[in-house]
Amino acid sequence: MAQKKTTPAKQKVAGAAAAPAAEKKTTAAAKKAAPVAEKTAPAAQKATAAEKTAVTEKAEPAKKPVAAEKTAPAAKKPAAAEKAAPAAKKPAAAEKAVPAGKKPAAAEKTETAAKKPAAAEKAKPTAKKAAAAEKAEPVASKTTVKKTKPAAKKAAPAAEAEKPAKSADKPAAPVTEAPKPAEEKAAPAPAEVKPEAVESAPAEPVEPAQTEEVQPVEQAPEEPHYDTPRRSVAFIGSECHPFVKTGGLGDVMYALPRELVKQNCDVRVILPRYACIPQKYQDKMIYRGEFYMDLGKTGRNYYVGIMEYVWDGVVYDFIDNQEFFSAGNPYISLVDDIPKYCFFSKAALAALNYMNWIPDVIHCHDWQAALVPVYLHTFFQDTPVGHAKTVLTIHNLRFQGIYNIPTIQYWTGLPDEVFNMGALKQDYEDANMLKGGLAYADRITTVSYTYAQEIQTPEYGEKLDAHLRYHNYKLRGIVNGIDYGMWNPATDPALAVNYDITNVLDHKMENKRALQEELGLVQDEGKFVIGLISRLTNQKGLDLVNAIVPDLMDGNTQVVVLGTGDKQYEDTFRYYENAYRGMFCACIQYDESRAHRIYAGADALLVPSRFEPCGLTQLNAMHYGTLPIVRETGGLKDTVQPYNVFDGEGNGFTFDRYDAGLLLDAVNRAKTEYFVNRYHWDEVVQRDMAKDVSWANSARQYKDLYLELTPW
Ligand code: ADP
Ligand code: GLC
Repeated sequence: MAQKKTTPAKQKVAGAAAAPAAEKKTTAAAKKAAPVAEKTAPAAQKATAAEKTAVTEKAEPAKKPVAAEKTAPAAKKPAAAEKAAPAAKKPAAAEKAVPAGKKPAAAEKTETAAKKPAAAEKAKPTAKKAAAAEKAEPVASKTTVKKTKPAAKKAAPAAEAEKPAKSADKPAAPVTEAPKPAEEKAAPAPAEVKPEAVESAPAEPVEPAQTEEVQPVEQAPEEPHYDTPRRSVAFIGSECHPFVKTGGLGDVMYALPRELVKQNCDVRVILPRYACIPQKYQDKMIYRGEFYMDLGKTGRNYYVGIMEYVWDGVVYDFIDNQEFFSAGNPYISLVDDIPKYCFFSKAALAALNYMNWIPDVIHCHDWQAALVPVYLHTFFQDTPVGHAKTVLTIHNLRFQGIYNIPTIQYWTGLPDEVFNMGALKQDYEDANMLKGGLAYADRITTVSYTYAQEIQTPEYGEKLDAHLRYHNYKLRGIVNGIDYGMWNPATDPALAVNYDITNVLDHKMENKRALQEELGLVQDEGKFVIGLISRLTNQKGLDLVNAIVPDLMDGNTQVVVLGTGDKQYEDTFRYYENAYRGMFCACIQYDESRAHRIYAGADALLVPSRFEPCGLTQLNAMHYGTLPIVRETGGLKDTVQPYNVFDGEGNGFTFDRYDAGLLLDAVNRAKTEYFVNRYHWDEVVQRDMAKDVSWANSARQYKDLYLELTPW
């Protein structure tokens, strides 16, 4: 398995000289040098902790003001640096935090009991205190500043762990005090989210229309009735449609919070404020506050700005720091990404404290946010946010955030205790961010039931199968859905012709012709059009596709590929386009609206993945009346029932072993139904469009999980 590690020789420190291994969803353009690592970690090229500290101290005066000036968009607070970030480490915290041998059930029970009263207070959302938050003292600020300096100077982790002992009383104060502000300003309740939402989301046209008419009282929007208690949830992740998306994670981060809002959740999504977020969204963000935060052993305080955008009941908080987030792509290489996400995960927690918005549950996603549970059980344990429960969702186990221990220690400052084999440590000298997160999270989910089983086996476990088996009491699979607002052929503005289940058979043909015209294919609605919309990586089964293309091209079949990724696949598809002009189209690009037109215009969609945690393209396809041809793995297995020629049941065409011959066989079975038994084919088209692939059911399972964790 292609694991993203660096060569040992280059792993010394702070990422400066490390070899960038293939990173998830890294685009070709992103393979450039790593500005952040170069800028921020010159010190890291020295091997010893002492050397590192010396150099970073030098760096501090030069960098800090620059970052602060550049990024602080509004009134700067001279004292901001003093406010600094998160909590002080408690000496005992590290010990407690070590999860090995933890008895889950018992531990949970005690925690729950202890936290009941506080949690009940927290349950009320405090999202609305924009003004207050600007002024707000970060709860743990004083303690942090005190902690930061000595820790940075003497890097020895043991000493670091002892230090807070002297000031053990101090961290204690903010902890007990912390809930008070929350109580006082308390929970203006869900309704109060609305005014702010209207203000900052210009897209919402409702309010002006209503005010003109002076509606009688009974016209006021009805309070929705919920059948489950309200919970507040902070989503923390590295991408989210429409701000930034490289794959399905972006879709989930968009759709699931929206659905959870409908299911009585108060949701805040915390994201990096990447410079590549389109300007139209940047313009809608409102300055929410800023503070400074220490980071690992860098010896520096880093600017953390919070920019906010409220949209359809979901609050998006973007963590601003130009040093880390100024690249043109979210993912670059591990050299950049490791420090970036060490910073991001910590800043996200500190921001929650700063905003005084303490969620019941923190739901983090993939390795980029996997340090959140680790930070929470160490630095933040005795701060307000430390009471939150954590859920960590694995969207793709292949990417884990692995680097050598000194580097991760340098960027996180986490105590030695967490670098044990039960948590972050892997093999002899590596730290694995995802592995650590899995150890500390209260619950682990992944995006399908089958993948949850698969990852506990050596074949799919990406070297974490034993770790996952150890933690499987808290692991569960919840299959993804798709957002019916974003994916709806009846209203989709990208399509040539809109359609629904009643007229799909006619209108799909029109979309097919329009697609053929758009892509320069032979315009003939009698051709069988196969789409493939994918990141072009080893995961997606493209070797199988490449092996069978010549067999597919029988004169009646057209193939449309949309994707970017590994050069070898891009080049092969370009070659085929050239070889089969008018019948094969290789769109080597990322194009959201073209993707919609392919879903609508193709007859079938290929997803022959080597592994697939869930997969969304087969869901989109079915919802657009396009039959999936998939390998029976992960979420593909859970969402596509094989077509049975004898009873006519099923949603698509499937094959099991990773084998080109079996893929070809599945495609040929599909073609037979299409050309010979069109009546049956059309039935499946309509059945697939009627199938429930929405988020409603799955969001409900997440809500149940949150309630299990917070049973008050
Ligand atoms: P993964 O997250 O592994 O990439 P998923 O199937 O979960 O796979 O999600 C892929 C998402 O990205 C889908 O919404 C799909 O439509 C979209 N997508 C993938 N490649 C492209 C592309 N080149 N252009 C537009 N959308 C794409
Ligand atoms: C990952 C997986 C994909 C899944 C997506 C959203 O990128 O590769 O299967 O659908 O995340 O969960």
